[in-house]
Amino acid sequence: MCQGFSAPSPPHTVAPSFTLTLTLTLTLTLTLLLHLLTPVSAWRPWPQNNQMNVTDYAFGDSKKYEGSSEFVKLRYHMGPVLTTNITVHTIWYGNWERNQKKIIREFINSISASDAPHPSVAGWWKTVQLYTDQTGANISKTVRLGEEKNDRFYSHGKSLTRLSIQSVIKSAITAKTRPLPINPKSGLYLVLTADDVYVQEFCSSVCGFHYFTFPSLVGYTLPYAWVGNSAKFCPGQCAYPFAVPAYIPNHKPFKSPNGDVGVDGMISVIGHEMAEIASNPLANAWYAGQDPSFPVEIADLCEGIYGTGGGGAYTGQVLDARDGATYNMNGIRRKYLVQWVWSHVLSYCTGPNALDQ
Ligand SMILES: *[C@@H]1O[C@H](CO)[C@@H](O)[C@H](O)[C@H]1NC(C)=O
Ligand SMILES: *[C@@H]1O[C@H](CO)[C@@H](O)[C@H](O)[C@H]1NC(C)=O
Ligand SMILES: *[C@@H]1O[C@H](CO)[C@@H](O)[C@H](O)[C@H]1NC(C)=O
Repeated sequence: MCQGFSAPSPPHTVAPSFTLTLTLTLTLTLTLLLHLLTPVSAWRPWPQNNQMNVTDYAFGDSKKYEGSSEFVKLRYHMGPVLTTNITVHTIWYGNWERNQKKIIREFINSISASDAPHPSVAGWWKTVQLYTDQTGANISKTVRLGEEKNDRFYSHGKSLTRLSIQSVIKSAITAKTRPLPINPKSGLYLVLTADDVYVQEFCSSVCGFHYFTFPSLVGYTLPYAWVGNSAKFCPGQCAYPFAVPAYIPNHKPFKSPNGDVGVDGMISVIGHEMAEIASNPLANAWYAGQDPSFPVEIADLCEGIYGTGGGGAYTGQVLDARDGATYNMNGIRRKYLVQWVWSHVLSYCTGPNALDQ
């Protein structure tokens, strides 16, 4: 449901739990790094549960490294997925630079672009399109940028709670001037907070999350996601591998493809949340695990995996740009590093740069 750390968590929190177990079986080449690997406790909009019974959805051997397992029981729970053209309405909360907005807008515009070279962002979205609803309708191929709202003056302060994110959305759709359109059927609302904004549990356990708004609070049920710019607070956690936490010694950060560690780190989290909103917008469609309160969704299953062989602290096989930056997919004008998503057809994590494609 939410993007936790993309970087492995500090060793002092190591506990025998799912992430560790899964990683053990998956990252055969990374045994040396295992002491660094720990559970990612991702925040969910429900009571915290770090005691997920992971054997419920994953255990056993894997045939491939990238999260593969016959025991991952990703299931469809009969709810809707986003099958009609998706319109992304962005709320820029706090102070955003023009160039930062451009990097993010172009990523969203790349999802349905047909003219980016392989491996492309559109190729990455093809895995998301494999998911269908009860009628057999696939998730929409078309994702377009909708209207945007600037919340430059921090309408709800610089420290937000989970619930106040919904109030930010309410302010944007009820603004006196140029309110965001209300589009519960195919709108997706993206709240992006600037690097001086703290959100409850940001850095300590999450980099982003998605859910839907409550009619009692906002007036409508709108699927939304929040993603924070971690550049100032915790780039080693939320912009990994473009920044590396201090507890991983001798590990050089990768060069980020668009020259902005915070924003390049956000791109992968935005991709993660969009893939999950599309496949589980109301938390009753595609997820693994037996408890609907603690769903493990199509991007959660592939956290930190960007290429073939990925898992743990290893990104998997990614690409080097001419300027030395690391990326794994092409957008319309830029390169991006975006984590993979689970394919229920292949039963493993995949992406456009997969070596078996
Ligand atoms: C976890 O789930 C498995 C299989 O459903 C079950 O056998 C086991 O007892 C559960 N463990 C805990 C701690 O709930
Ligand atoms: C959805 O998007 C496609 C491709 O961009 C377009 O041809 C079609 O008219 C759109 N449908 C609606 C209902 O807007
Ligand atoms: C729709 O989903 C089905 C089932 O996963 C898949 O076989 C098919 O290729 C998908 N269609 C598109 C256009 O992605």
